[in-house]
Amino acid sequence: MKKDFPIFKNKINGKKLIYLDSAATSQKPQVVIDAILEFYKTYNANVKRGLYPIAEKATEKIGKVRQEVAKFINAINPEEIIFVRNTTEAINLVAYLVSHNIKREEGIITSTMEHHSNFVPWQQLALKKNADFLVLDIDENGFLDLDSGIKNYELRIKSAKIFAVAHVSNVLGTINPIKDIIKKVKEINPNILVLVDAAQSVPHLKVDVQDLGCDFLAFSGHKMMAGTGIGVLYGKKHLLNNMQPFMFGGEMIREVNIENTTFADLPHKYEAGTPDIAGIVSLGAAIEYLNSTGIENIQKHDNRLIKYALQKMEKIEGINIYGPRDLDRRSGVISFNINGVHPHDIAQVLGNMGICIRAGHHCAMPLHKRLGIPASARASFYLYNDEEDVDYLIKGIKEVKNIFSLI
Ligand SMILES: Cc1ncc(COP(=O)(O)O)c(C=O)c1O
Repeated sequence: MKKDFPIFKNKINGKKLIYLDSAATSQKPQVVIDAILEFYKTYNANVKRGLYPIAEKATEKIGKVRQEVAKFINAINPEEIIFVRNTTEAINLVAYLVSHNIKREEGIITSTMEHHSNFVPWQQLALKKNADFLVLDIDENGFLDLDSGIKNYELRIKSAKIFAVAHVSNVLGTINPIKDIIKKVKEINPNILVLVDAAQSVPHLKVDVQDLGCDFLAFSGHKMMAGTGIGVLYGKKHLLNNMQPFMFGGEMIREVNIENTTFADLPHKYEAGTPDIAGIVSLGAAIEYLNSTGIENIQKHDNRLIKYALQKMEKIEGINIYGPRDLDRRSGVISFNINGVHPHDIAQVLGNMGICIRAGHHCAMPLHKRLGIPASARASFYLYNDEEDVDYLIKGIKEVKNIFSLI
């Protein structure tokens, strides 16, 4: 698919761009860039307020994209789709909403495999409310270990208000069996709310919120080929209806009086102020592109690439690879370390060769502590990567070993 992405036509510092950092953010196809340009060139206007044709067109476009997002994740109603900036904002919004009606005896559950976006908001809420904070562990394969959690902490699960959990780990690539996890947790505590951090799943796998049975789901447009600054919170209609808005201001009201204000219906109640209109337009174009490629094909493609990459990486001496060995339950992310080399040095050497990977804790410090490592290097794949990119990665890793005289 590289031909659809203009960035790959350029040489970067005279080198071919080998982009292996899509778990951080994805590249954008020409159709997405064109949709943003078209908006600014032909119908740029604020939404929900103008009564002239280009404002009406922009407003209609936003409504259409909301429907497309709802269809993409199989939400019952487009009103359940709230446009936010990113996954982080979506999760913080839910933490805020929950903060109003969490009772003293109710706890919060998350896990060691979470990105800080799905950990720190809950930790801070628990601290603020003096609530029980249960952090479930992972098993030896990198999956959420719900069975041990249930065995050891059934009572705490029974009295929890919310369980916030990642669908796919941004470090291990683990695809948690999230439908089963939600089912089991709700069997123990039917009142528990479940939020799924889908930042790494919606861009890569078929996600069906009705089938999963989650209450909230959060994801970012920029990881699925849309622009930066647009994200989505899905929430069940009755829950969103019964919660209090987070931000007050324009476009979220029904009527404002000196004494009081009544709020607009969903989804506007949670979308105060001017939205990222260009971002929403880009999300619509990205979804159209994902639909035309087929999300199942993307999952198969990611899977084929990690199988190819892992097969080659495992043959290199002194390399430690993290995450599940069952490759059919793993997404397109490979985190690794090379004995005796700091991950930043790996990323630096590869970067000089035009190969972009990430190094550090990947916003998952509790997970790195759990793995007993301070940091790791991470290569992540998407639909525009191919076997040649993997070959470059392997060449880069061998070069690192060469430079650090480990061969
Ligand atoms: C699993 C996971 N959750 C949340 C986030 C946060 O996404 P954003 O920075 O777009 O809010 C990321 C980003 O890498 C992620 O991988």
